[in-house]
Amino acid sequence: MPMHPPDTNHNGLPYFSEENSQAVVNARMGEDINPRLRQVMATLVKHLHAAVKEIEPTHEEWLAAIKFLTETGQMCNAWRQEFILLSDVLGVSMLVDSINNRRPSGATPNTILGPFFVDGAPRYLLGGNICLDGKGEPLVVRGRVVDTQGRPVAGAMLDVWQTNDDGFYDVQQHGIQPEGNLRGVFEADADGCYWFKSVKPRHYPIPADGPVGQLLGHLGRHPNRAAHLHFIVTAAGHQPVITHIFTPDCPYLQQDAVFGVKQDLVADFQQVTDPEQAARFGMAAPFWRVDWDFVLAPAAGTASREELIGRITTG
Ligand code: BEZ
Ligand code: FE
Repeated sequence: MPMHPPDTNHNGLPYFSEENSQAVVNARMGEDINPRLRQVMATLVKHLHAAVKEIEPTHEEWLAAIKFLTETGQMCNAWRQEFILLSDVLGVSMLVDSINNRRPSGATPNTILGPFFVDGAPRYLLGGNICLDGKGEPLVVRGRVVDTQGRPVAGAMLDVWQTNDDGFYDVQQHGIQPEGNLRGVFEADADGCYWFKSVKPRHYPIPADGPVGQLLGHLGRHPNRAAHLHFIVTAAGHQPVITHIFTPDCPYLQQDAVFGVKQDLVADFQQVTDPEQAARFGMAAPFWRVDWDFVLAPAAGTASREELIGRITTG
């Protein structure tokens, strides 16, 4: 017969039970561990055990969940990060982004980075055309980069990227699209002004040929992103902004697959038919025009675009 009470082990600690599962697992952590890791794991175990108790999965259901996670991992390679995609469609990427980018009012909000940013896109002079495949409805994007006091941010750098008119990024179609199609880097002038030519973006599906796409199907969800242009705007002494401009007429604006839309990022795209205005921009009428200012919040530091982009891409 054991000398200790029947529901405890030889150290007097409780055995695992359905009722005390969370406390028993968390009590197993050592004394001398990273306190942040303790907090993170204790919270995860608490909510995970609560979810399992609420769901009461069958063994088959639990194995199906493990199989899904295994396949999600197996889908990952140098170009494809299925776990980030999972985080995106569950709204976790946007939640982490929101928590980490609380900006003063008036500053341009962040939104999701997505997997298709490429450091080292072609550099263009202002007015350059990033559309290299000639498809789509021509667009002029113009505006200013200013600070929260409305002062120009001279020399701010703008990285821009978007899909082509078929709904693919150049990196998804090596050998089909010209390399560097619909991406570029621009430097705002001394007044913080920038402008470039492109094509009006269209909605497109996130990569849906893997486990995350299957999950969306089972959930009765579509995989489409609301039409957008991506931007990263950087300038020394300012917080970098990873953001989008959305078109107002996209059918997926209210139901973006990764929850990236914010009201303050929906722009006014105007169709221009005036031949004089077209000539001023070196365009043929009709064309689309969007005027968009980026408002940067202040930050300490003198980091260059390269350093700021490096922090964004490597964490
Ligand atoms: C994108 O906008 O490029 C994107 C964002 C999240 C998942 C997939 C694509
Ligand atoms: Fe995108």
